[in-house]
Amino acid sequence: MKLIPWAKPKVTIQDRKIINNALRSGWISHGSYVEKFENKLKNFLKVKYASSVSNGTAALQLAFLSLGLKRGDEILCPSYCYMAAANIATQMFLNIKFIDVEKNSFCLSLNSIKKNVTKKTKAVVVVHTYGNTCEIDSISRFLKKRKIFLIEDTAEALGSKYKNKYLGAFGDISTISFHSTKSITTGEGGAIVTNNKEIYEKAKLLRNHGVKNKRYYHNVPGFNFRISNILCALGYSQLKRLNKIKKKRKKIFYFYLSNIDKKKISVQNFSKNIDPLYWTFSMYIKEKKYKRDNLISFLQKK
Ligand SMILES: Cc1ncc(COP(=O)(O)O)c(C=O)c1O
Repeated sequence: MKLIPWAKPKVTIQDRKIINNALRSGWISHGSYVEKFENKLKNFLKVKYASSVSNGTAALQLAFLSLGLKRGDEILCPSYCYMAAANIATQMFLNIKFIDVEKNSFCLSLNSIKKNVTKKTKAVVVVHTYGNTCEIDSISRFLKKRKIFLIEDTAEALGSKYKNKYLGAFGDISTISFHSTKSITTGEGGAIVTNNKEIYEKAKLLRNHGVKNKRYYHNVPGFNFRISNILCALGYSQLKRLNKIKKKRKKIFYFYLSNIDKKKISVQNFSKNIDPLYWTFSMYIKEKKYKRDNLISFLQKK
C-alpha cells in the first residue's frame, strides 16, 4: 500500500535562514534560540512560564513528575485520544481510570469528569483531540475547588482558543508537541507551559539532569529532556506564522466539509465557544454497511 504522509510540513526560506543562524552561531545544543522560542511561546499563550523539551511525550512525563505524581496515584484519562499520556502513566505505575469522551466532540466533558472523580483522584488529563475541547473553563474551576490537578495535553491544539483564551493556558500544567504532524513543527520537540513558578522550576530541574545552576552539581536525579538550539530556531520561526497556518487549515477543513455526503458521514463537532486550529479532518461513518477500512482503501487509491 502506498504510504501517504499524515502531514507535509512547510519549511520556508525564512525557516532555513534562522536554522542557518543557529548553526553558524556554533551553539548547536544549547543556545539563544532555546530562550527565544520559550519566550515567544509563553507570550503567545499568555502564560507565565514555558520550557522546551525533546518531545510531547517527554513533556507529559515531566508534567506528571513536576506535579509529584507517584506510583498508585489515581489519574483520569480519556478513553479516546492519542495514548501518550496513558503510556507514561503506565510506565510510572499510576492508577489510570479511563473515562468516556463525548461522542460529538471526541473530548472529555465536565459531566464525564464529575461522574468519575473520587476522593483518590490526583489529576485529570484533558486531551484536546484534533484541536477541539469541551467546557475547559468549567472543568478547570471544578478541579481547582477539589484540589485536583488539571493537565492539558495540547499536543494537537496549539493555536485553538476557548472563549478567546488559548488552550494550554487553563491547566496547572500543559504539554505541547512539535512533531511533524503538529500545527508547527521542529521535527521532534515539545514544551510544557504553566503559570505556577514552583511547577516550572521543578520541570526545569528534571529536564536538565537535576542540575540547577552549577555545572556537575545534581540537586536531584533528573533526565535529559532538552531540545537543541537548531530545532528551537525552527520552532521560533514557525511560531511566528502560526496564525497564517490556522487560517489555511480552516480553509482546507471547510473545503472537505462542503464536499462530503453528510447523510453518510458526520464530523467532529466544535462548539460555538471554540475557535479551533483544525488539526485533522476526522470522519465518523454513520451507517454500518459502509466499512471504515473500505473507505480508507478507496481514499488510498485516489
Ligand atoms: C494528544 C497527543 N499527546 C501526545 C503526543 C506525543 O507527542 P510526541 O510525538 O511529540 O511525543 C501526541 C502526538 O504524537 C498527541 O497527539
